[in-house]
Amino acid sequence: MRTAMIKLASIGFGTVGQSFTKILHDKKQMLKDRYDLETKLVAISDVMKGSVMDKDGLDMTELLRLVSETGKIDDYDGGVKGLDSVETINQCGADVMVEMAWTDLETGEPNITHMKEALNAGAHVITSNKGPIALAYKELVELAKKNGVQIRYECTVMSGTPVLSMAQENLTGHVINSVKGIVNGTTNYILTKMENGGSYDVALKEAQELGYAEAEPSADVDGWDAVGKTVIMANALMGASLKPGDVEREGITGITLNDIMEAKIQGKHIKLIAHAWREGDEVKAKVSPEMVDEDDPLASVKGTVNAITLTTDGLGDVTIIGRGAGGTETGHGILSDLLAIHRSRK
Ligand code: HSE
Repeated sequence: MRTAMIKLASIGFGTVGQSFTKILHDKKQMLKDRYDLETKLVAISDVMKGSVMDKDGLDMTELLRLVSETGKIDDYDGGVKGLDSVETINQCGADVMVEMAWTDLETGEPNITHMKEALNAGAHVITSNKGPIALAYKELVELAKKNGVQIRYECTVMSGTPVLSMAQENLTGHVINSVKGIVNGTTNYILTKMENGGSYDVALKEAQELGYAEAEPSADVDGWDAVGKTVIMANALMGASLKPGDVEREGITGITLNDIMEAKIQGKHIKLIAHAWREGDEVKAKVSPEMVDEDDPLASVKGTVNAITLTTDGLGDVTIIGRGAGGTETGHGILSDLLAIHRSRK
């Protein structure tokens, strides 16, 4: 079989961008042997680390070395330097644009702009950013359709643990009546530590040190991150048209050690639960702390681990448990999206 070549552009070269590049490099032979796929990284653009484009392909090892040693890619030998992200997207000729840039969760920018530019340029888009998908899902999907390309966003919920594609590609014959689960690792880590007698403040600091917590802790502890993920699941899996403001929201800052111990005495666990469900023709959603029974699969989900129970008309409950964040985990989710695009091009 003839080997296919996919040209990639990475917009964003932080933890996720670097992890994805390393995976592409380390799994190069496997991708060729197993899937007849070769990849060529033709551009990277990162607002902090610099930008370089070479249509003949960039040297991934050298880029990873430079960024780890100097924090920048400006000293890369060759290529066109200094293009901004939009110029890069429009000039690099990539088949797939991987969008991993820093995001403003309130506006979804500059990511929504990056994605629109790439889709209009005829490139497939893969993103790990939940903001733009939570805020502009329908618009982006319609634009992708109009341009005959795909937009894929597996990593926006539970990073590389396949919830969205599993539901969209393997539960296709079912109606999903509810999605319910633990989608924020930081708050689950804090609640698990508190269950074991630990303090909220220490646990939050540990989650930050582990690299799980968002830069602004309110995004986790007040439930905003979970709201974004809930909106994505409701819209992508249940056909809803929710916006973050439609989701009833309560975080975990009001939960005391006493509440957790009281629940424990009743054989229950307090978890920050993200839930979207059908009510008549509507889909409703909320994020709030709930008491979960010991025999619920969600009760066994500890620490930074995430889990989602999808309630389907044909199979009943299907629960997926796995990691929900991390560079390598997210990088592998991007790779699974890339392979899905590769399959569809064949
Ligand atoms: N802050 C998020 C979490 C990271 O704690 O789950 C993954 O989106």
